Amino acid sequence: MKINNSNEKLLENISKNGIQKPIYPYFTSTDFTLYHADSLEIMSRLPENCIDMIFADPPYMLSNDGFSCQNGKMVSVNKGKWDKSNGFEDDLNFHEAWLKQSHRLLKPEGTLWVSGTYHSIYQCGYLIQKLGFHILNDVAWFKPNAAPNLSCRFFTASHESLIWARKDKNAKHIFNYETMKNGKFPEDPIKKEETQMRSVWSIPTSPQSEKELGKHPTQKPLSLLKRIVAASTNEGSIILDPFNGSGTTGIASKLLGNRNYIGIDMNKDYIELTRNKYEQLNNQKELFSI
Ligand SMILES: C[S@@+](CC[C@H](N)C(=O)[O-])C[C@H]1O[C@@H](n2cnc3c(N)ncnc32)[C@H](O)[C@@H]1O
Repeated sequence: MKINNSNEKLLENISKNGIQKPIYPYFTSTDFTLYHADSLEIMSRLPENCIDMIFADPPYMLSNDGFSCQNGKMVSVNKGKWDKSNGFEDDLNFHEAWLKQSHRLLKPEGTLWVSGTYHSIYQCGYLIQKLGFHILNDVAWFKPNAAPNLSCRFFTASHESLIWARKDKNAKHIFNYETMKNGKFPEDPIKKEETQMRSVWSIPTSPQSEKELGKHPTQKPLSLLKRIVAASTNEGSIILDPFNGSGTTGIASKLLGNRNYIGIDMNKDYIELTRNKYEQLNNQKELFSI
């Protein structure tokens, strides 16, 4: 089934705003739009109550010149300038700005997912409550293949947290309960067949096969995003990722089909990588082994 680009009307707000300089998408097709821009700039131009689901994987602010272990080698934890902390107050203000926009953009029944580690997730959790979202779950994503701890002075970090919240406590949000209960999740030994999906998910970090066209230093695994998109959106849903990175959310949306995706990233290389992945997917689905 081919869907109409219901993004089209929304995107007019960004390019034909009249007052501000137009911003055109870097790439757009019937169901997939990418902006190479600051997410606040794009979000502030969209009308309120227009998005069904936002997945945000914001900078964790953990690039503090430390070291970690990768394939048995000592490597810097620095991901890029975008991941450097500017101090507690500035980080909090940054998160507040994009979360405020997220609240404005979501439809009343819309939901927000935010991922993070302790470097950022408590700040985001505090703001999510302050801004009036209603928390539905906090999901622990357990990474069975997480890198070992080099210092041997504390526990090996092997999970991330995901907060799932709805905009309006009284609205009916999407939760595809049956798909979560009866779907196939072969990567996850915690999920038993035909039992309710729990809030602890065991999913390995991104495999090499998902990095064939290029990689991102904090790339999320497709299995994680497919689960999130399948749980909290339906056909026709409009999905926004303000921190697109390598486009995992968009690729998951495309794989599930008949969704509209808008991704924003200020790094052109990541936007170009996402576009290549999208185009490859259109020609060769088995690359992503669905
Ligand atoms: C944690 S990564 C997202 C990774 C992504 N989930 C994936 O699976 O590849 C965060 C991304 O946000 C982008 N970013 C940071 N601040 C931004 C901003 N203000 N506007 C747009 N993009 C931003 C960075 O360039 C980076 O690619």
